[in-house]
Amino acid sequence: MRLTDEEKVMRDGGEGEATAAAMDLLIRYGDALGAEHLCRVRNVAGTMTQPSPVKHKLVKEGGWAKSFAVINLDTDEDVDIPRMKVPTCQLQSGFGPDSVGIAPYPSENVELQTTGESFFGAHGVNILSTCTPYQVGNLPVRGEHVAWMESSAVVYANSVLGARTNCEGTASTGSASLTGRLPCWGNHKDENRYGDALFQVDAPVESFQDWGLLGYYVGDVVQEGRPVLTGDGIGLPELADLKHFGAATATAGGVELFHIPGLTPEAPTVEAAFGGKAVPEAVHFGERERRWAYETLNSQGESGEVDFILLGCPHASLDQLQRIAAALDGKRLHSDTEMWIMTPRALRTIADASGYTEVIERAGAHILTDSCPAMSKAAPDGTRVFASDSAKQVHYLPAILGIEGWFGTLEDCVDAAVTGRWRGELR
Ligand code: F3S
Repeated sequence: MRLTDEEKVMRDGGEGEATAAAMDLLIRYGDALGAEHLCRVRNVAGTMTQPSPVKHKLVKEGGWAKSFAVINLDTDEDVDIPRMKVPTCQLQSGFGPDSVGIAPYPSENVELQTTGESFFGAHGVNILSTCTPYQVGNLPVRGEHVAWMESSAVVYANSVLGARTNCEGTASTGSASLTGRLPCWGNHKDENRYGDALFQVDAPVESFQDWGLLGYYVGDVVQEGRPVLTGDGIGLPELADLKHFGAATATAGGVELFHIPGLTPEAPTVEAAFGGKAVPEAVHFGERERRWAYETLNSQGESGEVDFILLGCPHASLDQLQRIAAALDGKRLHSDTEMWIMTPRALRTIADASGYTEVIERAGAHILTDSCPAMSKAAPDGTRVFASDSAKQVHYLPAILGIEGWFGTLEDCVDAAVTGRWRGELR
């Protein structure tokens, strides 16, 4: 590993013990990957505050500094934690104070998280508390090397923003936040950013549901590949559509980067998306493949009686909140159903000011921030069957909570919330 003089100073303790531990971790990580040097990073999205049994123990023993040292820097030494060297944000966490009395989530976790936010806020971490930092002002520019966790955020950063990140972990993001460095490998390098699979999209992909179905199919086919999508079926997506599509590719597979020529920033043409190399034979996405994705996602639903509806995975955008409020306006949830809508804290504030929250709560639903049922492993007590418009949540939550799941449109989900019955079908 070639180090610059500044990096050697950090490694040798010139910027303190915590930074030296961070450099040591990054050098070990880079050596294991065969990286020849580190790249400069000025945007880190990681997780520090999310409660867990080991965090409770570490914070009790030595405060949040101890937790950060062990979990985010991989050192058992007692080190002072300096302010973060580069802009760093907290991604999704556990449920926060707004969940009390709504989500069956341990109050000691809420308390722990609140003290963690004070500690890390004082150390220069922006407490965004969302899996969608790009929706609330954390927007790297094209070509920028960043250190992000959270698979749906990573695929969005690489593909839609044209920033460069691998799917990082708690230790590498923690170390990057103190050093502004990461091993230069994988998606940071030009040669790894070209497509390796082509999809010809003929079925119309116009709605939020369509983008989720397409993403689920593409992810299942390519797994960890880099898909390129073309075809007359592709409509003009909104931010929420691309967010849903990327999350679905990273759920059914492990996609970190996709290209849609003419739409995403690194692929002006199909040829450019493949870096001038031979374009592979296309995989077709038509009505049959669309139906396969729909039926696969709905294979975890049996009972038509729904008791929980979850919207906002990845966390809902402002447009989505507005649409949800419009869909619920004047309606009332069935007495046996609950509905939670996940969104970033910052957007909750705007939803409050815009009157969306009032409409949503009048219908009997709740807006919650910071987390989601899959992340916090919590759904309303007694939930047996849930429904969502999110391919990711329907894929994961049945396995995490041992419940049934239905996938459909926002309208299907609102209908289920109001009637207590699942009546969705592919249109
Ligand atoms: Fe976000 Fe939870 Fe979905 S963290 S991407 S809402 S699984």
